[in-house]
Amino acid sequence: MKFEMKFDFTAGEDFLRNTAMSEFGNPAAKTLFEQEEIEVETFKNALRIGKRADGKDYFISLKEIHRQVLVGKTRCGKTFNMRRMSDLFYHSGYAVIHLCDLFNEMITSNQPLQTKFQRFLPKGEFPVGVPVKVYRPAIFKDLPQGNIKYQLGWGDLTEADIMIFCGIDGRAVEAQTAILQNFPKATGLIHFINLIKNEKIRAQTKNRIITKLQFLIDYEFIGDKWNADIIEDMEQGNVVVIHLEGYKKWEKSSPYLYQLPVINILRRIAEARKTGKLSKRTVIFIDEAAKMIPKRKEGELKEEILDNVDMTAKLGIFMIFASQLEDGIPDSILDQSRYLWFPYSINSVDAVNLLARKQHYDFHPAYKRDLLRQLLDLKPTPDGRLPWVIIDDTKKTVWKVFPYPPLSNHKESL
Ligand SMILES: Nc1ncnc2c1ncn2[C@@H]1O[C@H](COP(=O)(O)OP(=O)(O)OP(=O)(O)O)[C@@H](O)[C@H]1O
Ligand SMILES: [Mg+2]
Repeated sequence: MKFEMKFDFTAGEDFLRNTAMSEFGNPAAKTLFEQEEIEVETFKNALRIGKRADGKDYFISLKEIHRQVLVGKTRCGKTFNMRRMSDLFYHSGYAVIHLCDLFNEMITSNQPLQTKFQRFLPKGEFPVGVPVKVYRPAIFKDLPQGNIKYQLGWGDLTEADIMIFCGIDGRAVEAQTAILQNFPKATGLIHFINLIKNEKIRAQTKNRIITKLQFLIDYEFIGDKWNADIIEDMEQGNVVVIHLEGYKKWEKSSPYLYQLPVINILRRIAEARKTGKLSKRTVIFIDEAAKMIPKRKEGELKEEILDNVDMTAKLGIFMIFASQLEDGIPDSILDQSRYLWFPYSINSVDAVNLLARKQHYDFHPAYKRDLLRQLLDLKPTPDGRLPWVIIDDTKKTVWKVFPYPPLSNHKESL
C-alpha cells in the first residue's frame, strides 16, 4: 500500500517510509500471516494486536465488518488498546472517529509513543503520531488547548430535537403545534424564537418554549460560527475526536445537550457512507460506553447507537466499545460483538456471566473451561505489560494475548 502523508509526522515519517511499518502490503508481511494460519494478504486485512501465549502474534481480522467489546476495571488498559487499534486502522487507510472522549485523552495521539513504552513495540513498528482533530462542543464553555470549538447548525436540527429540548411531548398539543408550524419557516434559532413570540398561544406555554430556546443560544449550542464538516475531516485522513469531558453537569437535566452532537455525527457518518461522501471503510470507537449508553437507562443516544449497530455493519463501519462496568454494556451490543476482550483484573465469575449474556455464544464446556483456565493465569508481567484474554466468536478461539502498545502517545496522567 502506498502511504500518502498529509501531515507533519515529526520524526515518524522517515520511520514509516524507511522501515517495516511500510510492510503494510509488503510481501514480507504476507509470509508472517501465513505462519499464523490466518487467511490475510496484507496488514490491511488484519490488526496485529499483540503476542499470544505461544509466542506468535495475535491478529484481529478485518475481512468482515465486526463489533468488539473491551470490558474491565479502571487502568486495565482499555484505552491503551483502543489507541493501538485506532493507530493501526488509521495507517491501514480507514476513517477513524472517537465519539465520546471523556478525558481529553485522545489528543495526545498527535505525538509519537513515549519512550517508556517503546520497548514493547514489536519488531518493525515505530513510534509515530497521527493527525488528530478534537472537537469540543461549545456548551462546555472551556476550550482546552488544541481543541476546536464546535456547534451544530440550525439545519442539523429536526422538529423532534426542538421538542425534546423544550421538554414537550405529545400531550402538550398547543406547544407542539406552535413548534411544528413554525419550524419549517425559520431560518435560524433567533428567527424561530421570534416566530414563537408572535404566536397567539397561552403566555405560559410560550414562555416555557422561549426560555428553553434562549438557553440554547446562551450556551452557544446552535449557531453558524463553529460548524465543521467532520465527514470531510475523516475523509481527508484526520482522526476525529469528540471531547465530552464534564458531561455529568448535564446528565440529569439535559443529556441531549451533549448527546445530540454525537447522534448527529452518527447520522452523518451513516448518510455519508451511503452517498459515498465518506469513501473509506470507517471505524467508530466508543470508550466509556456504559456511561454514554447505560444498560438500564433509556436515552436518545443509546437508541441511536443501538439502531446504528445493526445498520452500520451493512455500511462498512466497525464499532469498538470499551466499558468499565461489566454489566454496563447493553446485551444487543455484546450479542453482536465478534471479539470480546477480558483483562487480567476481571474475576472469572464476572467474565462467564458476561459471556452468558451473549445469546448466540456457543457454550461448549470445553470452550468455557478454556476461558476460565486462561483467565486464572493472567498476570501483569514484571516489566508492566497487561495481559488480556480475547475471544473470537466467529473462529471460536480463546487466546491469552500480551497487547503491543499504540504507535502514538498514550495519555497517562488521569
Ligand atoms: N499493554 C500494556 N503494556 C504496558 N502498559 C500498559 C498496557 N496496558 C495498559 N498499560 C498501562 O496502564 C495504564 C492504564 O491504561 P488505560 O488508560 O488504557 O486504562 P483504562 O482501562 O482505559 O482505564 P479507565 O477505565 O480508567 O479509563 C496506562 O497508562 C499504561 O501505563
Ligand atoms: Mg480509559
